[in-house]
Amino acid sequence: MENRFKSVIDVIDSHVSIRKYKDVDIPEDTLKTIIYSGVRAPSSANLQPYSIIAIKDRELKRKLSVLCGDQSHIRECSVFLIFVADYNRIVKAMEQLNIEPFQPNIYSLYIASVDAALAAQNIVVAAESMGYGICYIGAVQNRPCEIAKLLGLPRYTYPLFGLTIGVPDEAPKKRIRLDIDTILHLNGYEGDKADQVIRRYREEGYLDSLERRYSRYAGRNGRIEMRFKGFMECLESQGFKTSPSP
Ligand SMILES: Cc1cc2nc3c(=O)[nH]c(=O)nc-3n(C[C@H](O)[C@H](O)[C@H](O)COP(=O)(O)O)c2cc1C
Repeated sequence: MENRFKSVIDVIDSHVSIRKYKDVDIPEDTLKTIIYSGVRAPSSANLQPYSIIAIKDRELKRKLSVLCGDQSHIRECSVFLIFVADYNRIVKAMEQLNIEPFQPNIYSLYIASVDAALAAQNIVVAAESMGYGICYIGAVQNRPCEIAKLLGLPRYTYPLFGLTIGVPDEAPKKRIRLDIDTILHLNGYEGDKADQVIRRYREEGYLDSLERRYSRYAGRNGRIEMRFKGFMECLESQGFKTSPSP
């Protein structure tokens, strides 16, 4: 596509999440090239404890969109990727090699989450460099066990997050970010910098939107608290240890 030759920095800088897509397929070899960029991401101990499920089937995308809060971009994108923590493959390979495996636990889920996010963001940059649009889908955590069932996820796997990819049918303007100096601390933690957050959003005229997002996600009884129970239950039913005690 035409902006294939944009610099990496330009591609990263022009990122916007896309929530409207044209009804166009991504050629199989292009998708493989994009996924290859993900697989090339660094990986802790090079274990690569994740799998990526590519969903192109319309009916399956529809069912997943319902399970993820009825988000239309999941239905409309060319391909919906679901990133899965995958210790099933590792444990099975270890058994074949006669190495006694551990029982996957919440710490190993953290490792898989970091690795999967690195792979996903490489995929994002590769896809956007080719002119495709993307949107991460954290709403996979609304009903993780139902998604695990729908995708036939075996023991020791867990659905982490989704990613829509497709040809953009909208051109939203770039969304606000915090100033670099709010995020960057030199030689140690400089303080909470909360006042800088509020000042930035107030000056840009987005304080209302920040307050809404804080309440909806990080507020008392917000999405993060609400998803916690289902998260722990699904982890346990997928075979992950959630406590260090025997
Ligand atoms: C882990 C993660 C989960 C997200 N989940 C959703 C989601 O379920 N639905 C959605 O429309 N956007 C989702 N987003 C996109 C964010 O809302 C978006 O990145 C943010 O508002 C900043 O906008 P921008 O990406 O256009 O700069 C998610 C982003 C991340 C990184």
